[in-house]
Amino acid sequence: MDRKNTNTICQEQALGHLKYSGLVDISPFFNGSICQLFLVKGRKSLIVKSLKPEYCNIPALKSRFISEVEILQSLQTSNTLALIKSRVDIKRPYFAYEYIKGTNLDKILKAGTVSLSQSVDIIRQLLTILSNLHDRDGRLIHSDISPDNIILSKQGQVYLIDFGCACIPQQYNDAAHTWIGKHAYLSPEQAQGLQWTQQSDLYQVGLLFYEMLTGMRRNNANTTRDMLPLAANPPALELRGIDCHYHEFINRILSVDINKRYQTAHQALLELNNI
Ligand SMILES: Nc1ncnc2c1ncn2[C@@H]1O[C@H](COP(=O)(O)OP(=O)(O)O)[C@@H](O)[C@H]1O
Ligand SMILES: [Mg+2]
Repeated sequence: MDRKNTNTICQEQALGHLKYSGLVDISPFFNGSICQLFLVKGRKSLIVKSLKPEYCNIPALKSRFISEVEILQSLQTSNTLALIKSRVDIKRPYFAYEYIKGTNLDKILKAGTVSLSQSVDIIRQLLTILSNLHDRDGRLIHSDISPDNIILSKQGQVYLIDFGCACIPQQYNDAAHTWIGKHAYLSPEQAQGLQWTQQSDLYQVGLLFYEMLTGMRRNNANTTRDMLPLAANPPALELRGIDCHYHEFINRILSVDINKRYQTAHQALLELNNI
């Protein structure tokens, strides 16, 4: 059965079943944000994401949520999680999509160091996903590549989720984008309030790779306030402890100077494959 048919069947079965009384709130297990996540009783393959009630009357947040839905709709044909159902024309918008049995990278990192080969495999898969996303019409930028937005399935497949900060450069809007994203994982250009590009996504991938290889977050400030200046002007890279074969790759993907950074996800992927 192909993916399109599977979606259609899921959609028919799910219609009418998405009542909040039939949902189990799983948000307390994750870092808090403006959204709430639910599992659907009796429907193990579904997850529902909705704006928290207290944010539904804030137009900027509601339109950001709706933009996440629109991006997911536009990604239906690519290799991303299938959107099963969405309703944005109501007081409390939500969407239902595939639930991945697995663990997010944040939990994996907190549980201990990831091995070198597993780290390289995760970065390869991420760069492949980005390469597809970046090549799409409109040249989508994810903008929020961070450990809790990456899920590793039990089979080791990497999924990039949470398109709540994603944007396409033509629709870039200063006011809407200066405050979003996690401070510890901002690229220098994002932290400096400059327009960011697809290379900003690459920088964020570099931050993840660094963290997996060293067991330490590159931006190690303790408070959000201290993270911003560190993200904007990162100290010199400390590569001690990292396998020397990957020094050049880390240096380039984490280059503050965007001209020295890899230009595309595809280029970074080729370099990584050559190591
Ligand atoms: N499709 C999914 N399958 C499994 N877990 C998911 C899925 N979507 C989200 N999650 C879990 O919920 C957490 C929060 O989801 P996310 O979409 O990132 O919400 P937020 O916008 O609040 O950051 C993720 O870190 C992940 O662990
Ligand atoms: Mg998230």
